[in-house]
Amino acid sequence: MSNDGVNAGRRRFLVAATSVVGAAGAVGAAVPFVGSWFPSAKAKAAGAPVKVNISKIEPGQQMVAEWRGQPVFILRRTEEAMTNLAKLTDTVADPNSEASVQPTYVDPAVRSIKPEVLIVVGLCTHLGCSPSFRPELAAPDLGADWLGGYFCPCHGSKYDLAGRVYKGQPAPLNLPVPPHTYETDSIVVIGVDQESA
Ligand code: FES
Repeated sequence: MSNDGVNAGRRRFLVAATSVVGAAGAVGAAVPFVGSWFPSAKAKAAGAPVKVNISKIEPGQQMVAEWRGQPVFILRRTEEAMTNLAKLTDTVADPNSEASVQPTYVDPAVRSIKPEVLIVVGLCTHLGCSPSFRPELAAPDLGADWLGGYFCPCHGSKYDLAGRVYKGQPAPLNLPVPPHTYETDSIVVIGVDQESA
């Protein structure tokens, strides 16, 4: 059975997505930067690591990469966001990710190698929807005490800016932190553990 039509459609999507990224990079960051870095279809099929240049992500913004067909959120947290994480220790279900997926080499509370750069798989641990990035404080629809985070539109799970799920949500666990390492200050490799790099 041929799936040439599907593959052709996928190629067109990849070309279009890459073009959009180029355009976004050229325009700069007038609006929150939402870019993507797409590996080749062959690399994805093999589950290959993905290199991402994070140098253009400004504090408070995130980009979305793709690794093994999954969205990966890469957020550069502000100083305020990092400070606020400590205030949420009693609000989140698994503050140190003892039950959640994350490599041993990330800081357990902020869930990252570098304090300011969060890297998580952007799929809700309930049923796999992709949560929305909601960094604004006291968002009207999320409550006066909202300190920024991620909100899953499917069944309402809330996560903080470390990808830690709030208590009492449909989602049971924090957003997974994928294996990753820094090749340089600007280049992160997703899919390779820090120790084995
Ligand atoms: S899939 Fe996110 S809350 Fe259900």
